[in-house]
Amino acid sequence: MFKIAVAGTGYVGLVAGVCFAEVGHQVICVDIDKKKVDLMKSGISPIYEADLEELMQKNYAAGRIDYTTDYRTAYKDADAIFIGVGTPEQPDGSANLSFIATVARQIAESVEKDCLVVVKSTVPVGTNDKVEQFIKDFLVNDVKVEVASNPEFLAQGSAVRDTLQAERIIIGTESKWAEETLMRIYEPFHLPIVSVNRRSAEMIKYASNNFLALKISYMNDIANLCELVGADIQDVARGMGYDERIGSKFLNAGIGFGGSCFPKDTKALEYIARQNGYELKTVKAAIDVNKEQKTMLYKKASKRLITFNGLKVAVLGLTFKPGTDDLREAPSLDNVPLLLEQGADIYAYDPVGVNNFARVYPEGKNGKGSITYVSNIEQALEGANVCFIFTEWGEIKAVTPETYKRLMRTPLVYDGRNIYSVQEMQEAGVEYHSIGRKPSTRESVKESRNLELQNS
Ligand code: UDX
Repeated sequence: MFKIAVAGTGYVGLVAGVCFAEVGHQVICVDIDKKKVDLMKSGISPIYEADLEELMQKNYAAGRIDYTTDYRTAYKDADAIFIGVGTPEQPDGSANLSFIATVARQIAESVEKDCLVVVKSTVPVGTNDKVEQFIKDFLVNDVKVEVASNPEFLAQGSAVRDTLQAERIIIGTESKWAEETLMRIYEPFHLPIVSVNRRSAEMIKYASNNFLALKISYMNDIANLCELVGADIQDVARGMGYDERIGSKFLNAGIGFGGSCFPKDTKALEYIARQNGYELKTVKAAIDVNKEQKTMLYKKASKRLITFNGLKVAVLGLTFKPGTDDLREAPSLDNVPLLLEQGADIYAYDPVGVNNFARVYPEGKNGKGSITYVSNIEQALEGANVCFIFTEWGEIKAVTPETYKRLMRTPLVYDGRNIYSVQEMQEAGVEYHSIGRKPSTRESVKESRNLELQNS
């Protein structure tokens, strides 16, 4: 059992802390926000994440996890301090390391025994060398402090599972002592551990995220070409996925990747390359494709409709993906302002993202248009002239094609997540546009209606 302190209680820090407690370590989570600390002590998770609250309550009751704003007490006798604070993107694409620096300085001023500092946050290659030097420069007591890199690969919505059942643990260390300490901390997880040097560990994180982002942008690029040549991206992906060298995951074309990692990490890696006098052409292309992709459906709809002015526009899904209330880089944030600018009256539905979205776009009149938040999908669709689907929530996938036909004034649907079969939408009489697939146009909708009438 190790005494572990965790700095930062966002997705990375809190989930790591809870999972360390779950496998038997003694954990103290540090955050500067007193309200958040009180909330966590009362068993409430500040983030929406499956299984997290349950494990917080269980481990708090067992005395294995606690929360505090008092970093001095938390750090002074910790065996290991994990840093999980944010590294937000700066306007030039580089990562802002000020939160890491603040924590590093607090650690230097607090530790009273030998301690391993482990950076979980995603940081540019070489940052951990600097963090170690920084801590050593500010150290108050005569103790040994080393820094290790231990990037995480959790996805929002499945963060706990991704941590407890990770496919691999990456540890980047510069000494046997640091390597062994981290190996022992991770021993109770019984997971494969890849031990490399610090800079390689930092690079593994960026290279992995950028590869996945590239995979998605590649599929989106191919999807756009599929539309032009009459191929179907879902069939294409199905055929590709059987090849184990390609793999069947992350082949879903859609309305572009969002979230807290891919957009930020692609820009950061591109920036790191530029700083080193190298042009990372592949990643740059992935970023460009993604930017275009986000408003692909809006552009399609703009061509189809004369105006959005005064139209009731149903928006289904606001978050960047299902299973999270996170809106960071969500396609909805690119499209809603365009629709409002054009005078659309938006009726938006999302099972958990509304509160966050309403903070950016309060309900009511907004510029030339307006936005209304509804608590059920029917209210959004009732009398709507057009519908956009931005997130593939289960609740949205459960809406039948007939429902669009029955409720909407004009059954015209733009689906950014390829939820429906084109044929089923066509048979239901819905004009349906998606990504990388043939649309069911008004003409084809009419044709299938006529066919139905003839047959009946
Ligand atoms: C991602 C990585 O998966 C995780 O390993 C890393 O630690 C953090 O970044 P996350 O951002 O939570 O996790 O979500 P993820 O499920 O990977 O989806 C990211 C974005 O890609 C979403 O906007 C999603 O809609 C999109 N996506 C994903 C696609 O467009 N197509 C796909 O096939 C898969």
